[in-house]
Amino acid sequence: MTTAAHHRIVLITGATKGIGLATAGELARAGHTVLIGARDPERGAAAAAGLTAQGLDARAVRLDVTDPATATAAAGLIAAEYGRLDTLVNNAGVARDWRRTPEELPVEAVRETYETNVFGVVTVTNALLPLLRESAAGLIGNVSSGLGSFSFLADPDSPVWEHATLLAYNSSKAALNALTLVYARALRDSGIKVSALEPGYCATDLNGHSGHSSAEEGGRRIARQLAEAAAGPTGAFFHPEGGRYAW
Ligand SMILES: NC(=O)c1ccc[n+]([C@@H]2O[C@H](COP(=O)([O-])OP(=O)(O)OC[C@H]3O[C@@H](n4cnc5c(N)ncnc54)[C@H](OP(=O)(O)O)[C@@H]3O)[C@@H](O)[C@H]2O)c1
Repeated sequence: MTTAAHHRIVLITGATKGIGLATAGELARAGHTVLIGARDPERGAAAAAGLTAQGLDARAVRLDVTDPATATAAAGLIAAEYGRLDTLVNNAGVARDWRRTPEELPVEAVRETYETNVFGVVTVTNALLPLLRESAAGLIGNVSSGLGSFSFLADPDSPVWEHATLLAYNSSKAALNALTLVYARALRDSGIKVSALEPGYCATDLNGHSGHSSAEEGGRRIARQLAEAAAGPTGAFFHPEGGRYAW
């Protein structure tokens, strides 16, 4: 268990399943209080119950990242119950363009993707920033993807070059990477660190379970990257195998 000085209040968006839920388990087992962000209260309660049954400190918080009212309400609940937030993990994400070319993808699918993967992060981050400012060491981890790296998108020699055609997903993660750097810059003087995280290619609902790693391995990588992000400089982009991604 962590000591009181190291005990953190952590909110993870989209933590009902997949990498978000696995990250929640990792951080709860490390002794932190984990708030399971869930757009569906029943799925959130079920995910939290799975952790509390193991004696862990977890509870569900209703949060649809595309609905600013739920972000405001979540911030109000966390303010009333805990008075601060130490770590925000912007994990909720969607992929609507799997196996579709840019010209096959309706613009509505691009908008929907951005609503969650980009605008949702702004909504949640801005709603929670006043509480992160109450932390002694505020941290924001944005769960991004190497598929959003410009270095990858511009590299025809990449072994996963076929995935460079995902118009909505890849460009939304590129935008998320830019948001990460802008928030890191804007919050530099506040002491709140902001970094982009990468869980590796994990078998989850998002990709039809085509990933090579399990969601649990992804959760372990995100937990490790959060620890490194807390200890290191702001504005990093972590590689799943260790070290940093080129932006
Ligand atoms: N899987 C990979 O290989 C991989 C690689 C790199 C990065 N990532 C990133 O990792 C993150 C988690 O993905 P995953 O693979 O674990 O996918 P997943 O199993 O499909 O989980 C996605 C989570 O996001 C939630 N979510 C979706 N829209 C939401 C909204 N509007 N408000 C709140 N929650 C919402 C889902 O909730 P519901 O239960 O309500 O649907 C679910 O909990 C994503 O940001 C993804 O881009 C994944």
